[in-house]
Amino acid sequence: MTALREGSPRIVRREDYAPPAYWIDSVDLTFDLDPAKTRVLNRMRVRRNPDVPAQPLRLDGEELNLARVLVNGQGTSFKMDGGQLVLEALPEGTEPFELEIFTTCCPEKNTQLMGLYVSQGTFFTQCEAEGFRRITYFLDRPDVMATYTVTLRADKAKYPVLLSNGNLVDSGDLDGGRHYARWEDPHRKPCYLFALVAGKLVCRSQPIISRSGTEHLLQIYVRQADLDKTEHAMQSLMAAIAWDETRFGLPLDLQRFMIVATSDFNMGAMENKGLNIFNTKFVLANPATATDTDYANIESVVAHEYFHNWTGNRVTCRDWFQLSLKEGLTVFRDQEFSQDMAGSPSARAVKRIEDVRVLRTAQFPEDAGPMAHPVRPDQYAEINNFYTVTVYEKGAEVVRMMQTLVGREGFARGLKLYFERHDGQAVTCDDFAQAMADANPDSPLAQHLEAFKRWYAQAGTPRVRAQGQFDPERGTYTLTLRQSCPPTPGQPTKAPFVIPVAMGLLDHQGHALPGTERLVVLHEPETTVVFEGMDAAPVPSLLRGFSAPVILEHDLSDDELLVLLAHDTDPFNRWEAGQQLALRRALAAVRAAGPVHEPLDGAFLEAMRAVLRHPALDAAFKELVLTLPAETYIAEQLDEVDPQRIHAVREAMRRQLAHALHDDWVWAYEQHKDNGAYRPDAFSAGRRALTGLALHMLCLAARDNGNPVWPGKTYQRFKDATNMTDRYQALSALVTAGHELGQRALAQFHDRFHAEELVLDKWFALQAGAPDRDGDALPRVQALLQHPDFNLRNPNRARSLISTFCHANPAGLHRADGAGYAFWRDRVLEIDAFNPQVAARLARALDRWRKLAEPYRSAARAAIEAVAAHEGLSTDVREVVSRALA
Ligand code: PHE
Ligand code: ZN
Repeated sequence: MTALREGSPRIVRREDYAPPAYWIDSVDLTFDLDPAKTRVLNRMRVRRNPDVPAQPLRLDGEELNLARVLVNGQGTSFKMDGGQLVLEALPEGTEPFELEIFTTCCPEKNTQLMGLYVSQGTFFTQCEAEGFRRITYFLDRPDVMATYTVTLRADKAKYPVLLSNGNLVDSGDLDGGRHYARWEDPHRKPCYLFALVAGKLVCRSQPIISRSGTEHLLQIYVRQADLDKTEHAMQSLMAAIAWDETRFGLPLDLQRFMIVATSDFNMGAMENKGLNIFNTKFVLANPATATDTDYANIESVVAHEYFHNWTGNRVTCRDWFQLSLKEGLTVFRDQEFSQDMAGSPSARAVKRIEDVRVLRTAQFPEDAGPMAHPVRPDQYAEINNFYTVTVYEKGAEVVRMMQTLVGREGFARGLKLYFERHDGQAVTCDDFAQAMADANPDSPLAQHLEAFKRWYAQAGTPRVRAQGQFDPERGTYTLTLRQSCPPTPGQPTKAPFVIPVAMGLLDHQGHALPGTERLVVLHEPETTVVFEGMDAAPVPSLLRGFSAPVILEHDLSDDELLVLLAHDTDPFNRWEAGQQLALRRALAAVRAAGPVHEPLDGAFLEAMRAVLRHPALDAAFKELVLTLPAETYIAEQLDEVDPQRIHAVREAMRRQLAHALHDDWVWAYEQHKDNGAYRPDAFSAGRRALTGLALHMLCLAARDNGNPVWPGKTYQRFKDATNMTDRYQALSALVTAGHELGQRALAQFHDRFHAEELVLDKWFALQAGAPDRDGDALPRVQALLQHPDFNLRNPNRARSLISTFCHANPAGLHRADGAGYAFWRDRVLEIDAFNPQVAARLARALDRWRKLAEPYRSAARAAIEAVAAHEGLSTDVREVVSRALA
């Protein structure tokens, strides 16, 4: 990053991959930790790679002060080239030699939070993807795997806890109030999995015995004040360990497994071998401070990082283009885990719907915009820009399709073969797909493997157009499925994908037609399926469970969608039918001329009422059905986007739902509001979610009719709440409705929780995301920038205010006067000066500017151009804005 600040960024290409010229077999690191000047002694055993022509050793380094280089104990000549340390006079032959490098760095000035940095007086490291080079000179690439011994020395009073990967083998006191600890990690690993932590922390410890009888120690390290918020993470970790053993036969391979929480972290969490480092947001929870969503996120992120121990660490990536090899697979695993934890079929479906919602509202736009890239990208300027929803979530869908094509048992077989072949290696996405196919030679995956792998190579969301034809004479129903995929940057045409379409047929009364359930596997531009013995035209239920990450286009009538909404056996498609109905109405109202009236009709409202009052459906599912498609999702369906119009339409729809179903919302609230002592299980969380939606609706209705009863009740519930979920929902209902009690509640909320960082983040985010009314959102956010609790340098806090506004408040951002874009521009530049990764993510908020209607489009472009024209832009932000303008 910083090393590349000057000049035009170097593009790294997948096709240029070459194996390393040297191997590093072992690393012995000694740290003298000091915030202003940390000394790092790095002693490596290095040997030439005999498979590669002899060449100098080029080690990566960034922001390091080099003091000494020794080869086999002797001084040696070296030169610097573009940040790299180049050693030419090395011993000949392939015998290992010892290379010793002594450097210093300055952790307290490390604002990028990559490499070694200080957060609230504690040292942390972050090395993925290319942060290790900020700690010492190294072959900073994932296919170089070594064993590590790490000695940490530091002031004992300030840094009583000294942690690194693996097992603690020695510790003791030193002169001058200092102490040391030595850690040995027996597993070979790439340097991006290195970690150390040193500081004043306490831990929750949990000894466990695995199914095979081995003993392990699990530990979660936090600040003293947060110890009472670690129980849920520990429970989640134990559940994840048990799940991976049961479902995939994958045991914990370490005596000790540690999680450490830090307030300053660019991402969610990091799977360093045996020493996972987490953003506090994904560890800390108690009922008073964390919501159901927080609890669910913690469960899945703790599991995700733990699952990386096999999918990522034991088998790692050959190069960073293969990132989805570990991330797509591990997201798939954490999604499956969360579904299994949720339990009931209905709760599983709820989790699936939530995952698909993320995919469609975040990944589909990415895949249709200037940053579109294949799941396995072909090139990058800055790898940090490719930790994307495409690599993660679409990558997980690709793995899920493999499971659909080979079956659950076949998938477990494939994973087993993958580990048999590749344990301890750094491999590619092809290696994974090959193992899956080889373990299932008779499956459609094996049959179409080369075509299937286009999911890794081709960007863009495929479209599947479905047309049904009923022939009363013959009693046949012929379904034709045609696929296509729009061009994406650098990929004007696409070859056909392999698309598994799970489906079934219903009659018009909603009964499932026996024998019509099947998995249709598309692998050509057009596929036809014929169903025989049909008495009448059926209603097709296609792409059940969202069996492929595609856009399905069909010409089902509203009546047919209503049949699916009321009766489909597939809960995902029930939800989807409701979304389609809502979307049609939203789009019609957006496209219509003149002022926005009432977009919703009686039939739709009745259908929503029927779902809300349904005796057998779960509350969580009802909440999903009754939540309208997001503004950004509506925008994606349009060629030209007027964000203000979309906002006005969606708000009008919400108001209609609020008024037309008023009594039903009252009923829903009364039925679901009492849930006893807080437990974060899926069932009671669903009840709380529906209660929250009901309160939002009732406060919204009260805004129009001026009746103070429901705002009053909501305020009371806010004050009386015994858990954060109920409290936050009541607060949000008041603030979102723009009720004056919302201001009072916000002030009280701040008073009560001002010492809780993560709760303050919610307080900022709620205000940043609250609906824009007559342009009030931007000034509100600008005022909050000046709030004493606001801190731009803390990524969580910066995101809670700025990213929430720019990514999740379209009507606030897209102002006709362009002031929202100017705000975006200034914040991107301001943050880029000290943390390019966070800035680059924020920069992506204007990705879709080309779709905007005027005057938004020109104003957005001007803001992006202003960023692009800025001198000294990071590689990270430069890549994002130059692709946006390309
Ligand atoms: N590898 C981490 C994960 O997904 C994410 C991450 C990437 C964290 C880069 C920090 C830096 O589990
Ligand atoms: Zn991951």
